[in-house]
Amino acid sequence: MADVFGKKRSAVQRALADDPARPYYRPLAARGAEVEIDGRTVIMAGCNDYLGLSTDPRVTEAAARALRRFGASCSGSRVLNGTLTLHEELEGRLAAFVGGEAALVTTTGFQANLALAALLDEGDTVFADMSNHASLVDAVRLGSADHRRYRHSDLAHLDRLLAASDPAAGRIVVTDGLFSMEGDLCRLPGLVALARRHGARLVVDGAHDIGLLGPGGRGVVEHFGLAGEVDLITGTLSKCFGSVGGMLVGPAAVVEHLRYNARSVLFSAAMPPASAAAALAALDIVEAEPERRRRVFDHARRLLEGLRSLGYDTGDSTTPIVPVYTGDTRLCLRVWQELLDAGVFTNAVVEPAVARNRALIRVTPQAVHTDGHITRVLDAFAEVARRLGPVPAAPANERPRRPVEVPA
Ligand SMILES: Cc1ncc(COP(=O)(O)O)c(C=O)c1O
Repeated sequence: MADVFGKKRSAVQRALADDPARPYYRPLAARGAEVEIDGRTVIMAGCNDYLGLSTDPRVTEAAARALRRFGASCSGSRVLNGTLTLHEELEGRLAAFVGGEAALVTTTGFQANLALAALLDEGDTVFADMSNHASLVDAVRLGSADHRRYRHSDLAHLDRLLAASDPAAGRIVVTDGLFSMEGDLCRLPGLVALARRHGARLVVDGAHDIGLLGPGGRGVVEHFGLAGEVDLITGTLSKCFGSVGGMLVGPAAVVEHLRYNARSVLFSAAMPPASAAAALAALDIVEAEPERRRRVFDHARRLLEGLRSLGYDTGDSTTPIVPVYTGDTRLCLRVWQELLDAGVFTNAVVEPAVARNRALIRVTPQAVHTDGHITRVLDAFAEVARRLGPVPAAPANERPRRPVEVPA
């Protein structure tokens, strides 16, 4: 008889079983530009705190004040008993910052994306980039709409799928703004043009780009000068805003529909008070200190250029998400361990986060890194190249490079 508890180990678990590297669930004893692991201090080059705000005293103080005033939890969902004045203030600020009539704040970014399922009814069709984040994939699974996947950033493929679909059906295109593992931007101008031409709605997940991209940090939409051209924007407060929480920003009527119909909002406890206050304080800093964005892009450019000159394959990234392709999972684990031994914590990204044979080391600088930190990261990669020899580039990665785009 089959036992639901008798699951086979995943490909990653099998690879890890006989490998000395332990890249996952590693407990950190302290966090910041440097972190403590097993009693050693190493450079944190593997987190999404791009602007370094999660440990900024202005953010942590705001969180501490809210914790004392409102308590540790909202003890309920937004709809019944969990909405605070802080949530409403945050929604007003985010709507104005991201650029939409209204905003809905959720407990996590994952839940913000799951909320999209409430827009995907039977008879509708959703068109999704094949490299979309898991939370968008799951939103599509939860919804009742038909589902078409287009090849990553392949606008011609999307055009064909849209052209072949029923023009009378409700149609919606969903994409990441900045792809979270490979560091490339969605081709927003083309996506906007296609959505308009085919009468489809366009949703962009700005989890990694809101706060980071565009002169004002308003994300990929501002970066491409397309304010007002994207129908609905989702995002997270766990990356550039140093907190935890999610957002949906768009037309007031759509946001109102989601407030009453999105199950990930209705049936889950609200974002904790400390997180809401931390996000508000972070938003002040995101607006007031554009030099943080310039700094993290300067670091990214140094990393991308330095790694490429060492012979590493960094794919199409033009952003502070710097992938170093190893292709092979075991090689990825080996490189990760060598980097940790050399004092640098990175992320080993393997299937299912990326396609099989597209394993990569994900390196992310932060605004709070010094130039010396970046030098040490590059030195660690140089040491790995000396010890392991050239890390092979997968043929699929042999694509023309675009220049690193630094925000004005
Ligand atoms: C592109 C993207 N969307 C959504 C999420 C989910 O955000 P959160 O961590 O706030 O749940 C993530 C986080 O990893 C992400 O990378």
